[in-house]
Amino acid sequence: MAEKLPWLAQHYPELPIIANVAGNTLDDYVSVCQAISTAPNVHAIELNISCPNVAHGGLEFGTDPQSAAQLTAACVAVSQVPVYVKLSPNVTDIRPIAQAVEQAGAAGFSLINTLVGMRIDIRTGEPILANQTGGLSGPAIKPVAVRIIRQVRSISALPIIGMGGVQNATDALELLAAGANAIGVGTANFTDPFACPKMIEQLPIEMTKYGFADLSRFAVTQEVK
Ligand SMILES: Cc1cc2nc3c(=O)[nH]c(=O)nc-3n(C[C@H](O)[C@H](O)[C@H](O)COP(=O)(O)O)c2cc1C
Repeated sequence: MAEKLPWLAQHYPELPIIANVAGNTLDDYVSVCQAISTAPNVHAIELNISCPNVAHGGLEFGTDPQSAAQLTAACVAVSQVPVYVKLSPNVTDIRPIAQAVEQAGAAGFSLINTLVGMRIDIRTGEPILANQTGGLSGPAIKPVAVRIIRQVRSISALPIIGMGGVQNATDALELLAAGANAIGVGTANFTDPFACPKMIEQLPIEMTKYGFADLSRFAVTQEVK
């Protein structure tokens, strides 16, 4: 709030910002939401209850419907802007968690965060990451993102920001086809800083290629097993 948001307001005055919020405890989340949602250029909050990279990255909130709902309700109560909840794919069934979060007042979902992975140095037999496990992102997780977005879309009409392995406009269309209403891109930016502008430019071309004038045909309601 002291550095980044004023800098962004100065350099990108038109840019709406979704502030990603994480914490160790419910009180952490609540106090950050309360404060950051008053910033004039923060238009929504994204509650990260799904980070597997740190000991208390919120994952314990994101894997239990009751805790997820409790956290969501507490954050919604103090936030001046809509609260999206970023759910974890590291669960057996995402739907009870999504349902609980919706009932607790979430304005929408961000799907998905990273999957829990591990690498081992075969010379030592020890995990390569200091934290032992870490978040797996990028192209490998796209089919998981597609499945989870479709599962949540089948039980909820709330907006979904879809992400997970999107590298190009075709990938973006696949997540939109799964039920997302907007797309987020993480890992692709690390290999190509122009990945997003390229996708935006390519999207209308891909839409023409696949034969539709707008994205309305992606309305999905059927149940997913
Ligand atoms: C280096 C890195 C840092 C990330 N940091 C966060 C974070 O602070 N909060 C969060 O909700 N997700 C975080 N993520 C998860 C991404 O936002 C995204 O959900 C995930 O990587 C899947 O998308 P992708 O395959 O396009 O990267 C991070 C991912 C990476 C690779």
